[in-house]
This record gives sequence, structure tokens and C-alpha cells, in this order.
Amino acid sequence: MAIKVKAIIGSTSSSSYNLKIVEHLRKRFADQLDITPVFINDLEAFSIDIENNPPENVKDFKNNVKDSDAVLFAVPEYNFSIPGTMKNAIDWLSRGGDFTIQGKPGFVVGASMGVLGSVRAQLHLREILSNPALAPVLLPGNEVYIGSVHEKMNETGELTDEATIGFLDNVVNNFIEFYNKNQKIIEA
Ligand SMILES: Cc1cc2nc3c(=O)[nH]c(=O)nc-3n(C[C@H](O)[C@H](O)[C@H](O)COP(=O)(O)O)c2cc1C
Repeated sequence: MAIKVKAIIGSTSSSSYNLKIVEHLRKRFADQLDITPVFINDLEAFSIDIENNPPENVKDFKNNVKDSDAVLFAVPEYNFSIPGTMKNAIDWLSRGGDFTIQGKPGFVVGASMGVLGSVRAQLHLREILSNPALAPVLLPGNEVYIGSVHEKMNETGELTDEATIGFLDNVVNNFIEFYNKNQKIIEA
């Protein structure tokens, strides 16, 4: 059975390159991963005041992410960090006492138009996710920084750069192996 993956799309753009990367993975690995993009831009700003009584769409967002075998973070870089909307979504995931992504296997991809491909954003993201209230179990040793992403797609937004396609194949195969090993440990 395909691994149910919820892909948190960190972008605020309707023509997001990061979303296109997730779409590439969704189609290419359809027989092994059931990837659903999760959009976060309409979530109200987190406040302690409404933590235990959040808006319906926040409840839906948290339940949607929770209803998964694994999480994928697709992260653009905004001013050397993650977009504020993504931090907001993660703050929601961390609170309310339900530990939405704690212990969930996951991996991170990131693309930017700059040459460094979201490396600074991902450094922040990994640090944020290390908070015990979040703490997904991220695939180690596989970091995906897709720089100059606009030069790696065709005019219809499909990833065409062979080196990037091959690299992503490798990372996803490593993730599937990691996931399966992780499951065996949980079942033992
Ligand atoms: C507010 C803002 C800040 C940005 N800061 C950075 C940055 O620090 N480093 C970088 O490589 N690109 C930066 N960019 C460019 C993004 O990498 C580019 O817009 C990319 O397409 C975002 O990903 P997306 O297409 O998935 O939204 C920034 C873009 C915006 C809108």
C-alpha cells in the first residue's frame, strides 16, 4: 500500500515552484507514495488566546496532517528563513496538546530561484522542527536544495532537469527505505 504523505506547501504563491516540485514527486512516485499537498495560507495567525478553540480551518488542517503516515515539508526561502505563513502553520501543529507530527517520518525539500536553493530556510526549519512538541523523524543525510529552480522547469512547470530528477529519485527511494525500516522498529 502506498505511504500516505501530507505535503505542507510553504509557499504563498499560486504559481509556486515548491508546489511544482511536490507535484513532480506526486506523479512520479504515485505507486509508492500517496502525496496530498496541504495549503496553509488561509490559516489565522496563531494566538495563545484561541489555542484550545481554533477556527474550523485550523482544526481541519491539523486533522488533515495528522491523518498521514508521513509528512513532507516543501519550503521556499523568504529573507533567509521560512515564510511567516509556514512558521504560523507549524506553531499551530505544535500546540493544543495533540502533538500532530511527533514521531512521524518525514523529509524536506526546498527550491528557490537563488543558487543556494533554500539552504538557509531549511536550517531554520530543521531547528524549529526539533522542538519536542513537533519532532517529526526526518530522513537523515538527504538534503534537497534546488537552486535556480526556474531554470530547471519547462514552460508548463514540469521539472525537466535530469540531474535534479535523478537526485530526487534517490532521496525519495532513501525515504521509502527509511520509512519501511522505521515501521519495522515500531512493529517489533
Ligand atoms: C519575501 C520574499 C523573500 C525572498 N527571500 C529569498 C531569500 O532569502 N533567498 C532566496 O534564495 N530567495 C528568496 N526569495 C525568492 C524565492 O526563492 C522565490 O520567490 C521562490 O520562487 C519561492 O518559492 P515558491 O515559488 O515555491 O513560492 C524571496 C521571495 C520573497 C517573495
